[in-house]
Amino acid sequence: MSDTLEAIQHAALAEIAAAAESRALEQLRVNYLGKKGRVTELLKQLGAMAPDERKAFGDRVNKVKDLIAAAIQHRSTQLLQAELAARLASETIDVTLPGRGDGVGGLHPLTRTLQRIERLFNELGFETMDGPEIEDDFHNFGALNIPELHPARAMQDTFYVDNGARVLRTHTSPVQIRTMQAVVAAGRTPPIRIICPGRVYRVDSDRTHSPMFHQVEGLYVAENVRFSDLKYDLQTFLSRFFEQDVEALFRPSYFPFVEPGADVHMRWRDPSKGPDHPGRWLELLGCGMVHPKVFEAVGIDPEKYTGYAFGMGVERLTMLRYGVDDLRLFFNNDLRFLRQFA
Ligand code: PHE
Repeated sequence: MSDTLEAIQHAALAEIAAAAESRALEQLRVNYLGKKGRVTELLKQLGAMAPDERKAFGDRVNKVKDLIAAAIQHRSTQLLQAELAARLASETIDVTLPGRGDGVGGLHPLTRTLQRIERLFNELGFETMDGPEIEDDFHNFGALNIPELHPARAMQDTFYVDNGARVLRTHTSPVQIRTMQAVVAAGRTPPIRIICPGRVYRVDSDRTHSPMFHQVEGLYVAENVRFSDLKYDLQTFLSRFFEQDVEALFRPSYFPFVEPGADVHMRWRDPSKGPDHPGRWLELLGCGMVHPKVFEAVGIDPEKYTGYAFGMGVERLTMLRYGVDDLRLFFNNDLRFLRQFA
Protein backbone atom coordinates (compact mmCIF):
# COMPACT_ATOMS: atom_id res chain seq x y z
CA MET A 1 0.00 0.00 0.00
CA SER A 2 2.49 2.62 1.10
CA ASP A 3 4.69 1.70 -1.85
CA THR A 4 1.86 2.50 -4.13
CA LEU A 5 1.26 5.83 -2.40
CA GLU A 6 4.92 6.72 -2.59
CA ALA A 7 5.07 5.68 -6.20
CA ILE A 8 2.03 7.76 -7.03
CA GLN A 9 3.48 10.80 -5.31
CA HIS A 10 6.76 10.37 -7.07
CA ALA A 11 5.21 9.92 -10.51
CA ALA A 12 2.79 12.82 -10.03
CA LEU A 13 5.45 15.33 -8.96
CA ALA A 14 7.70 14.33 -11.87
CA GLU A 15 4.91 14.60 -14.44
CA ILE A 16 3.76 17.93 -13.03
CA ALA A 17 7.26 19.38 -13.20
CA ALA A 18 7.54 18.18 -16.79
CA ALA A 19 4.13 19.54 -17.93
CA ALA A 20 4.80 22.04 -20.72
CA GLU A 21 1.44 23.77 -20.93
CA SER A 22 -1.65 24.55 -18.87
CA ARG A 23 -3.79 22.05 -20.69
CA ALA A 24 -1.43 19.16 -19.90
CA LEU A 25 -1.44 20.24 -16.26
CA GLU A 26 -5.21 20.20 -16.13
CA GLN A 27 -5.15 16.67 -17.49
CA LEU A 28 -2.77 15.65 -14.68
CA ARG A 29 -5.15 17.11 -12.10
CA VAL A 30 -7.90 14.91 -13.50
CA ASN A 31 -5.64 11.84 -13.63
CA TYR A 32 -4.59 12.13 -9.99
CA LEU A 33 -7.18 14.14 -8.08
CA GLY A 34 -10.28 13.80 -10.26
CA LYS A 35 -13.29 11.64 -9.37
CA LYS A 36 -11.60 8.58 -10.77
CA GLY A 37 -8.08 9.83 -10.17
CA ARG A 38 -5.38 7.61 -8.74
CA VAL A 39 -5.30 9.37 -5.34
CA THR A 40 -9.07 9.43 -5.12
CA GLU A 41 -9.16 5.69 -5.77
CA LEU A 42 -6.90 5.14 -2.76
CA LEU A 43 -9.24 7.15 -0.55
CA LYS A 44 -12.07 4.87 -1.61
CA GLN A 45 -10.19 1.95 -0.03
CA LEU A 46 -10.43 3.54 3.42
CA GLY A 47 -13.88 2.14 4.06
CA ALA A 48 -12.57 -1.41 3.98
CA MET A 49 -9.86 -0.74 6.59
CA ALA A 50 -9.70 -1.19 10.34
CA PRO A 51 -10.30 2.10 12.21
CA ASP A 52 -6.75 2.67 13.44
CA GLU A 53 -5.27 1.71 10.07
CA ARG A 54 -7.82 3.92 8.35
CA LYS A 55 -6.79 7.08 10.23
CA ALA A 56 -3.07 6.67 9.62
CA PHE A 57 -3.48 5.81 5.97
CA GLY A 58 -6.06 8.53 5.48
CA ASP A 59 -3.69 11.12 6.85
CA ARG A 60 -0.94 10.00 4.51
CA VAL A 61 -3.15 9.98 1.45
CA ASN A 62 -4.47 13.45 2.26
CA LYS A 63 -0.94 14.75 2.65
CA VAL A 64 -0.01 13.37 -0.76
CA LYS A 65 -3.19 14.86 -2.16
CA ASP A 66 -2.31 18.31 -0.77
CA LEU A 67 1.23 17.95 -2.01
CA ILE A 68 0.10 17.18 -5.54
CA ALA A 69 -2.47 20.00 -5.48
CA ALA A 70 0.18 22.46 -4.33
CA ALA A 71 2.60 21.25 -7.01
CA ILE A 72 -0.05 21.70 -9.68
CA GLN A 73 -0.82 25.19 -8.42
CA HIS A 74 2.83 26.13 -8.43
CA ARG A 75 3.49 24.74 -11.91
CA SER A 76 0.33 26.39 -13.19
CA THR A 77 1.53 29.82 -12.08
CA GLN A 78 4.89 29.18 -13.74
CA LEU A 79 3.26 28.14 -17.02
CA LEU A 80 0.87 31.09 -17.12
CA GLN A 81 3.73 33.47 -16.59
CA ALA A 82 5.77 31.82 -19.32
CA GLU A 83 2.82 31.88 -21.73
CA LEU A 84 2.19 35.53 -20.99
CA ALA A 85 5.86 36.38 -21.51
CA ALA A 86 5.86 34.50 -24.83
CA ARG A 87 2.74 36.36 -26.00
CA LEU A 88 4.14 39.72 -25.00
CA ALA A 89 7.33 38.94 -26.89
CA SER A 90 5.56 37.79 -30.06
CA GLU A 91 3.03 40.64 -30.11
CA THR A 92 5.56 43.35 -29.68
CA ILE A 93 5.51 46.05 -32.34
CA ASP A 94 8.96 46.99 -33.48
CA VAL A 95 8.54 50.71 -34.08
CA THR A 96 12.03 50.88 -35.56
CA LEU A 97 11.03 48.79 -38.63
CA PRO A 98 10.97 50.75 -41.89
CA GLY A 99 7.51 51.44 -43.43
CA ARG A 100 5.93 49.16 -46.00
CA GLY A 101 6.48 51.32 -49.04
CA ASP A 102 5.21 54.69 -50.09
CA GLY A 103 2.46 53.75 -52.60
CA VAL A 104 -0.13 56.49 -52.27
CA GLY A 105 -2.50 55.22 -54.96
CA GLY A 106 -3.57 57.20 -57.98
CA LEU A 107 -6.57 58.23 -60.01
CA HIS A 108 -8.08 55.86 -62.57
CA PRO A 109 -7.44 57.06 -66.14
CA LEU A 110 -11.20 57.46 -66.68
CA THR A 111 -11.49 59.58 -63.54
CA ARG A 112 -8.59 61.71 -64.74
CA THR A 113 -10.26 62.22 -68.12
CA LEU A 114 -13.66 62.94 -66.56
CA GLN A 115 -12.14 65.57 -64.29
CA ARG A 116 -10.22 67.06 -67.20
CA ILE A 117 -13.34 67.29 -69.40
CA GLU A 118 -15.32 68.76 -66.54
CA ARG A 119 -12.66 71.37 -65.75
CA LEU A 120 -12.38 72.45 -69.40
CA PHE A 121 -16.14 72.88 -69.74
CA ASN A 122 -16.40 74.64 -66.38
CA GLU A 123 -13.86 77.11 -67.76
CA LEU A 124 -16.19 77.63 -70.73
CA GLY A 125 -19.02 78.52 -68.34
CA PHE A 126 -20.80 75.15 -68.04
CA GLU A 127 -22.16 74.06 -64.68
CA THR A 128 -21.90 70.35 -63.74
CA MET A 129 -25.22 68.58 -63.11
CA ASP A 130 -26.02 65.13 -61.71
CA GLY A 131 -28.97 62.76 -61.98
CA PRO A 132 -30.22 59.22 -61.27
CA GLU A 133 -28.78 56.20 -63.10
CA ILE A 134 -32.09 54.35 -62.93
CA GLU A 135 -34.52 56.37 -65.01
CA ASP A 136 -38.12 56.32 -66.08
CA ASP A 137 -39.17 56.05 -69.69
CA PHE A 138 -40.16 59.70 -69.95
CA HIS A 139 -36.81 61.17 -68.94
CA ASN A 140 -34.65 58.67 -70.84
CA PHE A 141 -36.78 58.45 -74.00
CA GLY A 142 -40.17 60.14 -74.17
CA ALA A 143 -39.13 63.72 -73.45
CA LEU A 144 -36.25 63.27 -75.90
CA ASN A 145 -38.63 62.73 -78.78
CA ILE A 146 -38.11 58.95 -78.79
CA PRO A 147 -41.71 57.68 -78.72
CA GLU A 148 -42.58 54.14 -77.75
CA LEU A 149 -42.48 51.66 -80.65
CA HIS A 150 -40.46 54.19 -82.64
CA PRO A 151 -37.47 52.58 -84.39
CA ALA A 152 -35.18 55.13 -82.72
CA ARG A 153 -35.55 53.10 -79.50
CA ALA A 154 -33.51 50.38 -81.13
CA MET A 155 -30.58 52.79 -81.53
CA GLN A 156 -29.75 52.20 -77.89
CA ASP A 157 -29.90 48.64 -76.58
CA THR A 158 -31.48 49.09 -73.19
CA PHE A 159 -31.27 47.32 -69.82
CA TYR A 160 -34.77 47.27 -68.36
CA VAL A 161 -35.49 46.99 -64.63
CA ASP A 162 -38.70 46.65 -62.59
CA ASN A 163 -40.22 44.48 -65.32
CA GLY A 164 -39.65 47.18 -67.90
CA ALA A 165 -41.14 49.99 -65.83
CA ARG A 166 -37.74 51.67 -65.55
CA VAL A 167 -34.40 51.58 -67.37
CA LEU A 168 -30.72 51.93 -66.63
CA ARG A 169 -30.16 55.28 -68.36
CA THR A 170 -28.68 54.78 -71.83
CA HIS A 171 -27.26 58.31 -71.92
CA THR A 172 -27.01 61.28 -69.57
CA SER A 173 -29.54 63.26 -71.62
CA PRO A 174 -32.22 62.63 -68.95
CA VAL A 175 -30.20 64.91 -66.66
CA GLN A 176 -30.68 67.68 -69.22
CA ILE A 177 -34.42 67.01 -69.21
CA ARG A 178 -34.51 67.11 -65.40
CA THR A 179 -32.50 70.32 -65.31
CA MET A 180 -34.79 72.09 -67.80
CA GLN A 181 -37.85 70.87 -65.86
CA ALA A 182 -36.35 72.18 -62.61
CA VAL A 183 -35.69 75.59 -64.16
CA VAL A 184 -39.28 75.81 -65.41
CA ALA A 185 -40.71 74.52 -62.11
CA ALA A 186 -38.75 77.16 -60.20
CA GLY A 187 -40.23 79.87 -62.40
CA ARG A 188 -36.84 80.70 -63.86
CA THR A 189 -35.90 81.03 -67.52
CA PRO A 190 -32.82 80.21 -69.67
CA PRO A 191 -29.92 80.68 -70.14
CA ILE A 192 -29.06 77.14 -69.11
CA ARG A 193 -25.47 76.06 -69.67
CA ILE A 194 -24.68 72.66 -68.17
CA ILE A 195 -22.72 69.45 -68.60
CA CYS A 196 -23.89 66.06 -67.32
CA PRO A 197 -21.06 63.59 -66.65
CA GLY A 198 -21.83 60.07 -65.44
CA ARG A 199 -22.26 56.34 -65.91
CA VAL A 200 -24.56 55.03 -68.61
CA TYR A 201 -25.58 51.52 -69.63
CA ARG A 202 -26.19 49.67 -72.89
CA VAL A 203 -26.38 46.01 -73.86
CA ASP A 204 -23.08 45.98 -75.71
CA SER A 205 -19.67 44.42 -75.12
CA ASP A 206 -16.54 44.17 -77.25
CA ARG A 207 -13.10 45.79 -77.71
CA THR A 208 -14.61 49.26 -77.97
CA HIS A 209 -17.87 48.83 -76.02
CA SER A 210 -18.64 48.04 -72.41
CA PRO A 211 -22.15 47.52 -70.93
CA MET A 212 -21.33 50.31 -68.48
CA PHE A 213 -19.48 53.35 -69.74
CA HIS A 214 -19.22 57.08 -69.14
CA GLN A 215 -20.57 60.06 -70.97
CA VAL A 216 -20.37 63.78 -70.70
CA GLU A 217 -23.29 65.52 -72.33
CA GLY A 218 -23.72 69.24 -72.64
CA LEU A 219 -26.65 71.59 -73.11
CA TYR A 220 -26.79 75.30 -73.83
CA VAL A 221 -30.20 76.97 -74.03
CA ALA A 222 -30.70 80.71 -74.45
CA GLU A 223 -32.11 83.22 -76.91
CA ASN A 224 -30.40 83.07 -80.28
CA VAL A 225 -28.17 80.06 -79.70
CA ARG A 226 -26.89 79.02 -83.13
CA PHE A 227 -25.07 76.10 -84.68
CA SER A 228 -21.99 78.28 -84.95
CA ASP A 229 -21.97 78.57 -81.13
CA LEU A 230 -21.95 74.79 -80.95
CA LYS A 231 -19.09 74.56 -83.44
CA TYR A 232 -17.05 77.19 -81.66
CA ASP A 233 -17.49 75.70 -78.16
CA LEU A 234 -16.75 72.14 -79.25
CA GLN A 235 -13.78 73.21 -81.33
CA THR A 236 -12.39 75.12 -78.35
CA PHE A 237 -12.94 72.18 -76.04
CA LEU A 238 -11.33 69.64 -78.39
CA SER A 239 -8.24 71.76 -78.99
CA ARG A 240 -7.78 72.29 -75.26
CA PHE A 241 -8.42 68.64 -74.49
CA PHE A 242 -5.92 67.30 -77.03
CA GLU A 243 -3.53 70.24 -76.57
CA GLN A 244 -3.23 70.86 -80.31
CA ASP A 245 -5.14 72.56 -83.10
CA VAL A 246 -7.77 69.89 -83.64
CA GLU A 247 -9.23 69.83 -87.13
CA ALA A 248 -12.90 69.00 -86.62
CA LEU A 249 -15.48 67.96 -89.19
CA PHE A 250 -19.24 68.21 -88.60
CA ARG A 251 -21.07 65.58 -90.61
CA PRO A 252 -24.90 65.45 -90.72
CA SER A 253 -26.35 62.70 -88.55
CA TYR A 254 -29.65 61.68 -87.00
CA PHE A 255 -30.59 61.85 -83.33
CA PRO A 256 -34.30 62.16 -82.47
CA PHE A 257 -33.70 64.93 -79.93
CA VAL A 258 -31.82 67.34 -82.19
CA GLU A 259 -32.49 69.01 -85.55
CA PRO A 260 -30.19 69.37 -87.35
CA GLY A 261 -27.89 66.77 -85.86
CA ALA A 262 -24.26 66.01 -86.55
CA ASP A 263 -21.41 63.65 -85.77
CA VAL A 264 -18.13 65.36 -85.02
CA HIS A 265 -15.01 63.79 -86.48
CA MET A 266 -11.45 64.87 -85.88
CA ARG A 267 -8.43 64.37 -88.09
CA TRP A 268 -6.23 61.80 -86.42
CA ARG A 269 -2.60 61.58 -87.47
CA ASP A 270 -0.41 58.68 -86.49
CA PRO A 271 2.74 60.39 -85.14
CA SER A 272 4.92 57.61 -86.57
CA LYS A 273 3.77 58.49 -90.11
CA GLY A 274 5.02 62.07 -90.00
CA PRO A 275 3.23 65.45 -90.15
CA ASP A 276 2.49 65.28 -93.90
CA HIS A 277 0.46 62.08 -93.74
CA PRO A 278 -3.23 63.00 -94.14
CA GLY A 279 -4.29 60.71 -91.27
CA ARG A 280 -7.91 59.69 -91.03
CA TRP A 281 -11.22 61.04 -89.69
CA LEU A 282 -12.22 59.60 -86.31
CA GLU A 283 -15.78 59.89 -85.06
CA LEU A 284 -15.76 61.57 -81.65
CA LEU A 285 -19.20 62.61 -80.53
CA GLY A 286 -22.78 63.46 -81.41
CA CYS A 287 -24.38 66.89 -81.29
CA GLY A 288 -27.05 69.15 -82.75
CA MET A 289 -29.64 71.86 -82.15
CA VAL A 290 -32.25 70.91 -79.53
CA HIS A 291 -35.44 69.66 -81.19
CA PRO A 292 -38.51 71.88 -80.56
CA LYS A 293 -40.39 68.80 -79.32
CA VAL A 294 -37.86 68.44 -76.49
CA PHE A 295 -38.50 72.04 -75.44
CA GLU A 296 -42.24 71.42 -75.58
CA ALA A 297 -41.90 68.30 -73.40
CA VAL A 298 -40.27 70.31 -70.61
CA GLY A 299 -42.32 73.48 -71.01
CA ILE A 300 -39.77 75.81 -72.61
CA ASP A 301 -41.05 78.01 -75.45
CA PRO A 302 -39.30 76.87 -78.67
CA GLU A 303 -40.32 80.12 -80.40
CA LYS A 304 -38.33 82.13 -77.89
CA TYR A 305 -35.39 79.89 -77.07
CA THR A 306 -32.98 77.77 -79.05
CA GLY A 307 -30.22 75.52 -77.83
CA TYR A 308 -27.55 73.04 -78.70
CA ALA A 309 -26.68 69.68 -77.14
CA PHE A 310 -23.78 67.30 -77.46
CA GLY A 311 -22.71 63.96 -76.00
CA MET A 312 -19.30 62.32 -75.85
CA GLY A 313 -17.93 59.01 -74.56
CA VAL A 314 -15.31 59.37 -71.85
CA GLU A 315 -13.75 55.98 -72.63
CA ARG A 316 -13.29 56.94 -76.26
CA LEU A 317 -11.60 60.25 -75.45
CA THR A 318 -9.38 58.51 -72.89
CA MET A 319 -8.34 55.86 -75.43
CA LEU A 320 -7.43 58.52 -77.99
CA ARG A 321 -5.55 60.71 -75.58
CA TYR A 322 -3.46 57.89 -74.09
CA GLY A 323 -3.29 55.59 -77.11
CA VAL A 324 -5.19 52.69 -75.48
CA ASP A 325 -6.62 50.25 -78.03
CA ASP A 326 -8.79 47.99 -75.85
CA LEU A 327 -11.51 49.59 -73.74
CA ARG A 328 -11.79 46.51 -71.51
CA LEU A 329 -8.40 47.39 -69.98
CA PHE A 330 -10.15 50.17 -68.07
CA PHE A 331 -12.29 47.68 -66.16
CA ASN A 332 -9.94 44.72 -65.59
CA ASN A 333 -8.24 46.44 -62.63
CA ASP A 334 -4.81 45.22 -63.69
CA LEU A 335 -2.40 47.38 -61.70
CA ARG A 336 0.32 47.02 -64.36
CA PHE A 337 -2.02 48.93 -66.69
CA LEU A 338 -3.44 51.40 -64.17
CA ARG A 339 -0.07 52.37 -62.65
CA GLN A 340 0.98 53.94 -65.92
CA PHE A 341 -1.51 56.76 -65.33
CA ALA A 342 -0.89 57.36 -61.62
N1 PHE B 1 -27.53 61.22 -76.19
C1 PHE B 1 -26.76 60.85 -77.37
C2 PHE B 1 -26.27 59.44 -77.20
O1 PHE B 1 -25.97 59.02 -76.13
C3 PHE B 1 -25.61 61.73 -77.61
C4 PHE B 1 -26.05 63.06 -78.11
C5 PHE B 1 -26.34 64.08 -77.21
C6 PHE B 1 -26.21 63.28 -79.44
C7 PHE B 1 -26.77 65.28 -77.68
C8 PHE B 1 -26.63 64.49 -79.92
C9 PHE B 1 -26.91 65.51 -79.04
O2 PHE B 1 -26.16 58.76 -78.17
